[in-house]
Amino acid sequence: MSRTDEEPKIIPRHIAIIMDGNGRWAKERGLPRTEGHRVGADSVRAVVEECSQLGVEFLTLYAFSSENWKRPKREVTALMSLLERFLKTKTPEMMEQNVRLQAIGRLHDLPPSCQDQLHRSIATTSQNTGLTLILALSYGAREEIIDGVKSLLDSVEKGHLDKAMIDNDIFAKHLYTRYYPDPDLLIRTSGELRISNFLLWQISYTEFYVTEKLWPDFRKAELRDAVHEYGRRQRRFGGV
Ligand code: IPE
Ligand code: IPE
Ligand code: MG
Repeated sequence: MSRTDEEPKIIPRHIAIIMDGNGRWAKERGLPRTEGHRVGADSVRAVVEECSQLGVEFLTLYAFSSENWKRPKREVTALMSLLERFLKTKTPEMMEQNVRLQAIGRLHDLPPSCQDQLHRSIATTSQNTGLTLILALSYGAREEIIDGVKSLLDSVEKGHLDKAMIDNDIFAKHLYTRYYPDPDLLIRTSGELRISNFLLWQISYTEFYVTEKLWPDFRKAELRDAVHEYGRRQRRFGGV
């Protein structure tokens, strides 16, 4: 692996991460899967700090998918209480680091106490002007597109929008991500070569970076490696 201590010169404006491999990390150590999630939360902290340092503007973290509800009840419960505790304990740090918290997904599916804490943390950090940290929670890209289509149809029915006007930009304004630019770099940890229902619309021209590192082992140096690699890519957007 190429590793350089030089400061990366080209910084992606928006990084999205599929944080995968917590269960495998725990299994390798003979620990329960939830232990992997617990240590994975420390990686979140490290990556948020490094993105702030590098001057990344947006960081979207895939924390819980629409499909993850299918997991055993005790794992889901553990993940939700970990999320709630994470938000509660890390909000003061977000304030110190000028991080603005946001969330995308069907948030009303989350347990009520989790929703309350999430909305409290979002409100507390809303005036911060540094990194925008976007947590994808109970998020599925297909669900987002369906919700977007319903919202578009609603606008057309109400006479706020003419069907003939619908184009890429208008459609994007009906997605959960309407306030954010598309990701420049998408990272997936633990080697899986799939999207798993993450940001299907938004990644049309995103650069992919897949690493074998499991999420609990993905820290500042690994994030830097990904950013350096991004700097070596030539983006063409269909041009020459
Ligand atoms: C990612 O790790 C965390 C979530 C999906 C919530 P996994 O729990 O998917 O870990 P693996 O893929 O089983 O190793
Ligand atoms: C993707 O990981 C979802 C998150 C990281 C939250 P999964 O572990 O759920 O994805 P699959 O099942 O391997 O596709
Ligand atoms: Mg997984």
